[in-house]
Amino acid sequence: MADQTAEIILDGKSYKFPVITGSENEKAIDIGKLRDETGYITFDSGYKNTGATKSAITFLDGETGILRYRGYPIEQLAATSTFLEVAYLLIYGNLPTSTEQSNFIERINKRSLVHEDMKVILDGYPSYAHPMGVLSSLVCSLTAFYPDSLNPNLTEEEMDLHIIRLLAKLPTMVAWSYRKSKGMPLNYPKNSLDYCSNFLYMMFAHPTEPYTIDPVVSEALNTLLILHADHEQNCSTSTVRIVGSSQASLYGSVSAGINALWGPLHGGANQEVIEMLDEIKNSGMTVEAFIEKVKKKEVKLMGFGHRVYKNFDPRAKIIKVACDQILNKLGVKDPVLEIAKALEAAALSDSYFIERKLYPNVDFYSGIIYRALGIPVNMFTVMFALGRLPGWIAQWKELRANKEPIGRPRQIYTGATKRDFVEIAKR
Ligand code: CMC
Repeated sequence: MADQTAEIILDGKSYKFPVITGSENEKAIDIGKLRDETGYITFDSGYKNTGATKSAITFLDGETGILRYRGYPIEQLAATSTFLEVAYLLIYGNLPTSTEQSNFIERINKRSLVHEDMKVILDGYPSYAHPMGVLSSLVCSLTAFYPDSLNPNLTEEEMDLHIIRLLAKLPTMVAWSYRKSKGMPLNYPKNSLDYCSNFLYMMFAHPTEPYTIDPVVSEALNTLLILHADHEQNCSTSTVRIVGSSQASLYGSVSAGINALWGPLHGGANQEVIEMLDEIKNSGMTVEAFIEKVKKKEVKLMGFGHRVYKNFDPRAKIIKVACDQILNKLGVKDPVLEIAKALEAAALSDSYFIERKLYPNVDFYSGIIYRALGIPVNMFTVMFALGRLPGWIAQWKELRANKEPIGRPRQIYTGATKRDFVEIAKR
């Protein structure tokens, strides 16, 4: 096919810009020279139509509900893979051979301990601190323990060591932030356990009691982490990339990503969903009455809607089925599951939601599963961060490898035009 160009006519003059095509045939107008040639910039609040990078990590088609990591469909990965295998795939580009996988796991296990001085930082937080804030600061604190991470010219090998460290230490730091908030003794990682089982052990084992890992719980956790592992240029990942583009360290960039994820419109929605469902249950309000409040825009139906999925979120489909299965297997009866299903059914047949293409997203059912697994509500978004880590790392690594320029959007200024300073006595 002949090279395509886009023509823009401004002030009666025609300018041509190249069209670029991705491997899944998605198209973009390359406006890299637009301002130089025309003096104009594009305006796209919320980056709804703006591609900020070329990436080979995750493909997503929101119209048809497709999500693939490095070409592999999310449905296949969620059904058959392990979280660390998916992490390897995202970060290094291919599924590991068995030797690559065992080396990877061994390297991670070796670094799962966190510096003892990290406990001093943890001790500085009040027990009621939100664990997302604690986690982001602990991750950023790794720059203090590993100051060479600040070097913008790390070799690939050095960079890889920081990647392994972060993958290894995040579960420990997540579990510690929870244990601290409960006033419980901190558990050290057990390298004989797999990634998910070790995490559950660090979260829930008591020094006074034996702790047995329920395989249903650890498998459920594995599935949830895989489903969250990457999602191309979402708010937190774009944050990681933009922070990383200034050549900030991996730890600093991921710490910023954790903060971006925390907001209720992004990863913080999973906590908001369960709080919304509990409120509906506790207030005795009917599902119909709640839907009416949403339509009057008094509240949002949290866990619904997505910037890119306009048909269905493939992760939500998998999670809904998993939710039923896991609760059944664990013998948990959570009344909010019925409320969630009724809300979904009511919304999907209501013109407000149909016209706006609003469907359940990944956060709608995930909180119900987390609660059934014994994860406290304020840890839900932390669990999202644990899952998203390989994606953030892969995107940061890709940015470095591609030597991408510093991210620096432009603006349309709408403030006062030039005016002269007036001394305070004369104002
Ligand atoms: N409940 C009620 N109305 C909604 C909702 C919702 N959850 N989401 C969007 N709308 C309405 C919105 O009010 C607007 O209506 P109108 O055209 O009358 O002004 C229309 O739908 C379009 O919404 P938008 O806010 O312009 O869409 P967006 O693409 O900017 O926002 C979103 C996407 C996810 C922020 C939004 O759907 C939302 O706030 N959802 C609830 C929070 C949530 O569940 N977030 C988790 C997202 S998935 C996890 C992740 O990866 O972050």
